[in-house]
Amino acid sequence: MALILGLESSCDETAAALVISDRVVLAHRLATQEAHHRPFGGVVPEIAARAHVEVMTPLVEQALADAQVRLADVDAIAATAGPGLIGGVMVGLVTGKALAHAAGKPLIAVNHLEGHALSPRLANPDLHFPYLLLLVSGGHCQLLFVEGVGRYKRLATTIDDAAGEAFDKTAKLLGLGFPGGPAVEAAAKAGNAKAVPLPRPLLGAKEPHFSFAGLKSAVLRARDAGVHKPEDIAASFQQAVVDCLIDRTQRAVDVADGATALVVAGGVAANQTIRQALEALAARNGLPFFAPPLWLCTDNAAMIAWAGAERFAAGLTDPLDIAARPRWPLDPDAEKARGAGVKA
Ligand code: KG4
Ligand code: ZN
Repeated sequence: MALILGLESSCDETAAALVISDRVVLAHRLATQEAHHRPFGGVVPEIAARAHVEVMTPLVEQALADAQVRLADVDAIAATAGPGLIGGVMVGLVTGKALAHAAGKPLIAVNHLEGHALSPRLANPDLHFPYLLLLVSGGHCQLLFVEGVGRYKRLATTIDDAAGEAFDKTAKLLGLGFPGGPAVEAAAKAGNAKAVPLPRPLLGAKEPHFSFAGLKSAVLRARDAGVHKPEDIAASFQQAVVDCLIDRTQRAVDVADGATALVVAGGVAANQTIRQALEALAARNGLPFFAPPLWLCTDNAAMIAWAGAERFAAGLTDPLDIAARPRWPLDPDAEKARGAGVKA
């Protein structure tokens, strides 16, 4: 049994958690920077990095106090080393290095995406490799065949925006506030999903890639037409995203051989309509469905500590001079999606 301290700071949440390798979360502390970024309608990297510096050390102290353990009791320190906003990633990684050095414990540099990818295994001991994973967050929208710790085959990615990004931009266009995902989901509850005709980009395409940029432009046009209620646009947008995710994930189920389960993770996995649609898709395909509890979907440090625990069990630790990485694909061999923009 190993006790792992996890640190997360890749975007706009600062977090520290203590997790034992038998899936016990002893403590998890999180400080969200939403209030800092709300006036700008999006995450401002410089503000994020400064805010991480201010709260990271107190959060670690609070997590240790909550768990009633000392740093000396910890077996390893896991910190997000990328991908993400580089200033923020550096804060968590440098803190992790300093603690590892001071306590004489190993450092585990965790890929934030691996944190999301393995988080459903923290929540559920019945989820075994290999599984098909829809990873949907603010920065990524990918279908991955998860073979094991550190072993990912990327089946598809977005050729433009991520799904969470589309939610955030739609919220901004409709004046629903920040962060956008929960705001659009709440507005959609009061709207009619059939009211506004919106496109379903790449629906039916052979490869299971995603595209959301055209949908965002269509939301802008629908808003500017001035005839639709914002909640109807929100509901219609959410339904279009659901239809795209379902069609593309079904395509991946068709081409991925040997998956034992369908799994969703990442911030957008907190969306109830999306979870329900994926659960139904899994049932249609005779696959068990796994989705982490909501607090484990959006960014947190328990998933980083858990990925650390899985890597530690596999004997994977890292040198103290390891660098922070703004970009860090889970599958380095994946080819660029055709028509792809800059997103990996
Ligand atoms: O995983 P995450 O916390 O951070 C990244 O690694 O990107 O994901 C954040 C994204 C944001 O785009 C946010 O709007 C979206 O997840 N999100 C949601 C919901 N909650 C968060 N999208 C749709 N519905 C939600 N309930
Ligand atoms: Zn994330």
